[in-house]
Amino acid sequence: MKTIIEPFRIKVVEPITMTTREERTRFLAAAHFNVFNLHAHHVLIDLLTDSGTGAMSSLQWAGIMQGDESYAGGESFFRFQHVVADLTGFSHVLPTHQGRAAERILFELVGGPNKVVPNNNHFDTTRANVEHSGALAVDLVIEEGKHPQQRHPFKGNLDVAKLRALIDDVGADRVPLCMVTVTNNSGGGQPVSLANLREVRAVCDHYGIPLFLDACRFAENAYFIKLREPGQQDRSVCDIVRDMFDLADGATISAKKDGLVNIGGMLLLKDEELFQRASALLILTEGFVTYGGLAGRDLEAMAQGLQEVVHEDYLTYRLRSTEYLGERLLEAGFPIVEPPGGHAIYIDAGALLPHIPPAEFPGQALVCAFYREGGIRAVELGSVMFGGGGEPPPLELVRLAIPRRVYTQSHLDYVVEAAGIVFEGREGLRGLRMINNPPYLRHFSAQFEELG
Ligand code: F0G
Repeated sequence: MKTIIEPFRIKVVEPITMTTREERTRFLAAAHFNVFNLHAHHVLIDLLTDSGTGAMSSLQWAGIMQGDESYAGGESFFRFQHVVADLTGFSHVLPTHQGRAAERILFELVGGPNKVVPNNNHFDTTRANVEHSGALAVDLVIEEGKHPQQRHPFKGNLDVAKLRALIDDVGADRVPLCMVTVTNNSGGGQPVSLANLREVRAVCDHYGIPLFLDACRFAENAYFIKLREPGQQDRSVCDIVRDMFDLADGATISAKKDGLVNIGGMLLLKDEELFQRASALLILTEGFVTYGGLAGRDLEAMAQGLQEVVHEDYLTYRLRSTEYLGERLLEAGFPIVEPPGGHAIYIDAGALLPHIPPAEFPGQALVCAFYREGGIRAVELGSVMFGGGGEPPPLELVRLAIPRRVYTQSHLDYVVEAAGIVFEGREGLRGLRMINNPPYLRHFSAQFEELG
């Protein structure tokens, strides 16, 4: 069969509010051309993020009713811990309310002034937590990972030669750990190979540096390994997942992605002493070690979600849906990050709209056009998000992130049709002027005017 169907039936539906182009033009102006300011019910297809926006299964909802809400020692924690240990091999598991809480605890413990943290590409909250501790965050993705149109099966790989050079340069004592983000969200949702993880591990071992994964999208990464890495085709996703985690000394995870839940995260650690110190910090700001800022029901939903996400029918559908959207956008003429990643398609707005300079925010102009023409909400990853320091970033990207198990192929066909209209009108799109300039994370609250 050529058609890959959604491997689920729909039992609960949530209506989408239909809007007209005229209405959306008004909503956009009222939101000061920042889609974070829209009411979500004015959005038809919400591709702002794949984080916390997935649909839970009937078994996850059943788990919600089984949540043990005891303050300490709840059964839901032990079930969650058992599932995580089974999947990853880690027995030191701290639940957190989301990924960045795990990052905050980790970097409060190992970061600090003078420290240097390498990664393929830091996600923005990871970078912010590294920098907040006083440390320097360094991105070392392979060269191919920086060029949108250059294809590579594992474009998220970390450049091990650059890693060695960095450690030699700053000294191993200043590098508290090396991180690898799987899949590499900031680099286009691109996977990292097992071979690369092994090479990074060998470098870390040579210098005595721990290796940590930012493993939000571990299952998508593992399935890419199964599809693309020589010798991995006949292995189960669970075995590949286990190999990935076996190479690491720890991991931060936002379960809002491959945990298939709306809220939750975790910090995994091997080192006993670090685990004790992290537990103390968890209690300080998140909650007791058996709930970490979540309800018992959330732990049940995570435990179930972590088991469902490694089903190969699910992963086939998941990666194929993203690829399908990417292929259709390429056919329509859009320059995108190639090949399509796991959770999102990234459009190169700088290449699509060469008449709009970075100072006039081509990515934001494209985000506005997607909303106006189709009610589709995307997110800008360009001069709005990263240009606060004055220098424009190397790329002006727009991300269409696909929530898990939420939209069907006909929703994606609708996105493609709206994208066609945006493409036809691209030469008439105008840039924007930022009328305020918030000091931190400005993409959330920036306000714009359309240029005449
Ligand atoms: N690491 C990566 C690679 C992420 O993509 C995210 C979140 C986090 C860490 C932080 O997790 O949100 O649970 O605190 N990414 C979302 C996104 C927000 O839209 O890409 P969190």
